[in-house]
Amino acid sequence: MSVADNAEIPSALARQSAGEPQTGTRAKSAPADAPAIVSIKNVSKTYATGVQALKPVNLDIKRGEIFALLGPNGAGKTTLISIICGIVTPSSGTVIADGHDILTDYRAARMKIGLVPQELTTDRFETVIATTTFLRGLYGRPANRDYVEKVLRDLTLWEKRRDQLQTLSGGMKRRVMIAKALSHEPTILFLDEPTAGVDVELRRDMWNLVLRLRDNGVTIILTTHYIDEAEEMADRIGVINKGELILVEDKNTLIKKLGKKQLTLHLQEPMTTVPAELAEWNLSLKAEGHELDYTFDANAERTGVPSLLRRMADLGIGFKDLNTTQSSLEDIFVSLVSDRKK
Ligand SMILES: Nc1ncnc2c1ncn2[C@@H]1O[C@H](COP(=O)(O)OP(=O)(O)OP(=O)(O)O)[C@@H](O)[C@H]1O
Ligand SMILES: [Mg+2]
Repeated sequence: MSVADNAEIPSALARQSAGEPQTGTRAKSAPADAPAIVSIKNVSKTYATGVQALKPVNLDIKRGEIFALLGPNGAGKTTLISIICGIVTPSSGTVIADGHDILTDYRAARMKIGLVPQELTTDRFETVIATTTFLRGLYGRPANRDYVEKVLRDLTLWEKRRDQLQTLSGGMKRRVMIAKALSHEPTILFLDEPTAGVDVELRRDMWNLVLRLRDNGVTIILTTHYIDEAEEMADRIGVINKGELILVEDKNTLIKKLGKKQLTLHLQEPMTTVPAELAEWNLSLKAEGHELDYTFDANAERTGVPSLLRRMADLGIGFKDLNTTQSSLEDIFVSLVSDRKK
């Protein structure tokens, strides 16, 4: 029996194994009005120690999206994920996961959810295939060798399936964690810091893997403090800081909305100070007076660039070259988080 014939396999996975062409990973992001697959309402958490890890959070995750939860250490990312996965009890609020309340309908909700926790936990003497198959059974799913094979092949673990976990490298162990999380065919996958401490190449692999999973119909929520990770993969980004969800935005809108551009003019003649006639542009001199920087809002009606260049021409200040750079998500993130500290 081919994998695609098996009714147990989620249709998207089956389609893929049937050799249907995969469209570009970017093309499949969720439409703006897609219904929520996870609905978080007023969820807060104060631990027994008195630490308020989460202030009331309201958030809808759209079906089929990759949502990145970005925030510094201790921001509350793991707490939020742990609540949705039923590991931590919320102090207040409700969460509906793919139609099931995580408190009153726990088992059904948990069935929909796969979790790759931040901490690697593997049973050293188990084999890759045994641990994955066992977990599937634990969730009450009937055995399905084809599905397990598909998952392990997707994660390039198939060749290693009979190896003991203790003999695997860190990166492979991480992939085993993903295989375990997918063993019961969840529709929602949480990845808590999927690439913490992995090398550049493996990070790339992991990113590609996550994109493939999304193309297979799985909704992905990941936490990270790597801004480039969010920038690379996410459809939407939530920024969490000190237990507060301070921003949720479509990634591209976020970059566009908050993005500042910087214009650098490479001067023909170096300057010691910015001429008073150019004071209104708030320029700064760099590279020992050889470069003049102007930071502006790229989306403003008037950027001030044409008038600056005109005024410079009037003053006889020549430049050899110019270039512009757009601020990255990193700049945005740093400014958001530091604004809050003030
Ligand atoms: N079991 C616990 N008991 C008491 N306090 C906790 C517990 N777990 C987390 N905290 C506290 O709650 C806050 C949020 O922690 P959390 O692990 O959710 O942060 P995080 O955003 O995942 O951080 P990191 O990026 O370091 O993983 C921190 O102040 C942390 O010390
Ligand atoms: Mg964490």
